[in-house]
Amino acid sequence: MTDQPHDPELVPLRDKTLAAITAATDSDTLEQIRVSCLGKKGSLTGRLKELGKLPAEARPAAGAAINEVKDALEEALAARGESLKQAELALRLTGEPFDITPPGRGFPAGAPHPVADVMEELIDIFTSLGFAVEEGPEVETDRYNFQMLNFPDDHPARDMQDTFYVQDGRRLLRTHTSPVQVHAMLKRKPPLAVIAPGRVYRCDSDVTHSPVFHQVEGFLVDRRVTMGHLKATLELFVQRLYGRQTKIRLRPSFFPFTEPSAEVDVSCVLCGAKGCRVCKQTGWLEILGAGMIDPNVLTACEIDPEVWGGFAFGLGVERIAMLKYGIDDIRLLYENDPRFLGQFA
Ligand code: PHE
Repeated sequence: MTDQPHDPELVPLRDKTLAAITAATDSDTLEQIRVSCLGKKGSLTGRLKELGKLPAEARPAAGAAINEVKDALEEALAARGESLKQAELALRLTGEPFDITPPGRGFPAGAPHPVADVMEELIDIFTSLGFAVEEGPEVETDRYNFQMLNFPDDHPARDMQDTFYVQDGRRLLRTHTSPVQVHAMLKRKPPLAVIAPGRVYRCDSDVTHSPVFHQVEGFLVDRRVTMGHLKATLELFVQRLYGRQTKIRLRPSFFPFTEPSAEVDVSCVLCGAKGCRVCKQTGWLEILGAGMIDPNVLTACEIDPEVWGGFAFGLGVERIAMLKYGIDDIRLLYENDPRFLGQFA
């Protein structure tokens, strides 16, 4: 140990502190010891501050002596601190009773999104009826989305308001799944029975409209297909979906690609057709559009309408999910709020 004639108390201070460190039996006491000598107002810190008052030639030796004590104390504090920590941990593990019976911390588990869930259900029903699943591109051309489906050039559905156009001006985001009819009919020979589930896009947004939503298209092309086949297929479908008691009704409508066309209603699934807020007291809910495939569409797809006929329908998946779960704002389905989605787990 360095000689320090100017501070005879340094060595006793060191020894006293080292003894206290050894004697400390918990981390709090140890921390108090550290503060008392190495803290801002600690005894060693004070001595280092006083160094400037010594004559210049005495400073190096005195400084070295203080630092040596400081190092020794820091080392002892660290070593004692570590062994106290170990001892405290060991005590907690063996000493404290450890209750293994309380429920564990919850682990947040995911669940299928209501739209995905309903989509699966729809696909299951139609595949069990013999429909094959096919998909088409979401970025389409005017030709597939409109022209081949018998939309006249000036049809309002081609307006910029409804359709999202890709910047090149040639392509667009499909506004419905009906272009998959065209892809399938150009690719394969009838007879065919296909469903085409997927995302569609419309420039539209409020409580019942989202700019992106899902449809399931269904179509069948065969010899001597009648509206009766369409009606029977849809009836079977809604009864599988909502129960045996469910009824449908067809109202005359118009789509460029079907003739005749119909809007299809189901008896209200919420009030059992008695009349409620959701069905606006009518007892009926509109859930899909349908019709017999227009001969112009068959001809455009190189299928002879004198030999072949077909029906087609398109339904909105969100609408069906909203009815199934009593959801009154479509946007809830896209906000991904875990408090909302958690209800479907
Ligand atoms: N494509 C139509 C729509 O999006 C629905 C439809 C499909 C109607 C097939 C008739 C036949 O509104």
